[in-house]
Amino acid sequence: MNITQQLASCGIHGYGSAELKVFEKHLERYFDREYKRWKDNQNFAEDYGLNSFEGDISKKETRPISVSHYDEEYQVYRAFLDREYLAYTMGYFGVDQAQHQLEDISLEQAQINKYKLLIERADIQDGQSIVDLGCGFGGLSKYLLETYPNITVTAINPSDVQTKHIRNELMNPENNFDRSRFRLIQAYFNEVESLDIEAGSFDRVISVGFLEHVSNIDLLQKNLSLLLKPGGLSLHHCIVSIDVLPAFLNAEDSLMGEYYPGAHIWPFSEPQRHNTHLTFKKSWFVNGMNYWKTLDEWHKRFWDSIDRLYPQYLSIEEVESWNKYFSLCKAMFIPNNGESYGNGHFLYQK
Ligand SMILES: C[S@@+](CC[C@H](N)C(=O)[O-])C[C@H]1O[C@@H](n2cnc3c(N)ncnc32)[C@H](O)[C@@H]1O
Repeated sequence: MNITQQLASCGIHGYGSAELKVFEKHLERYFDREYKRWKDNQNFAEDYGLNSFEGDISKKETRPISVSHYDEEYQVYRAFLDREYLAYTMGYFGVDQAQHQLEDISLEQAQINKYKLLIERADIQDGQSIVDLGCGFGGLSKYLLETYPNITVTAINPSDVQTKHIRNELMNPENNFDRSRFRLIQAYFNEVESLDIEAGSFDRVISVGFLEHVSNIDLLQKNLSLLLKPGGLSLHHCIVSIDVLPAFLNAEDSLMGEYYPGAHIWPFSEPQRHNTHLTFKKSWFVNGMNYWKTLDEWHKRFWDSIDRLYPQYLSIEEVESWNKYFSLCKAMFIPNNGESYGNGHFLYQK
């Protein structure tokens, strides 16, 4: 019996198996019903107990466990993420409102395409000073440093596993960019005053997949306005639902709580209500099929590496947990051809 068969005999069915497809269809139908049920819901998040104008930037009680997912086994991330940048967010496979066709490109190219899209929308230019907030494994920072010879990047991230990777790879002297242009701050962004960052010195603050961890968007914006130069721009990329979906506002109210306690899926309209400390300029909805395709590729790569991961790095329970995670996330994005649940880009100016 090979490993996949062994796991199947314990009820853990691999990528592409008939059993897993049935499971994913059940999940998909559940989300499809939820999206129809809440279509055109006119309420706000605060009507369901989540107020994006109050409290701490991210909740103190859940802060460490809400990022503990990023400190799981490094070899697992290496196995399924794109090889070059280890981006742990949606890759851009070219699906937009006008076109529902996924481009036949690699995950590696899709992650580069996302970076290009963000750079264009944030109007990033060589010579600027950039903050990569919630930088993960440092993919965007690396892309910027490699692409622009005079850009400087300050990356912020509390995760031990991710910052260790950055120290080993991005700060490696063999890289073809000058290390003095890169600074890593291992910290939560919440206590911005205590971080070693100069006020008013940045042209751009970019966050990718970070706003899901933020509870008080108003306070976040206030702190970002302290960092930016006058006229500076801030762009956030995060998962959003088109309608206000009560069960998704707090991860603990959904199956996602197992993976991201304390996290939130904001309705697309919510970040746009924040126009006090920074001026809201523009938003874009990025079709969810881009994330579905990314997750599907991650899921496939995870199973392609299963002989290496199990049992050396993962217990049987952990294999099951990761397997469910990929299926669950895919099922959220696929209903309604990705038009109900996707990513938002939100641009602000100081
Ligand atoms: C979904 S990952 C995205 C990582 C990266 N931007 C990417 O695209 O691959 C979210 C990141 O936000 C970081 N994060 C979460 N809460 C944070 C906080 N309060 N301050 C700073 N970073 C935080 C996590 O450690 C993680 O690296």
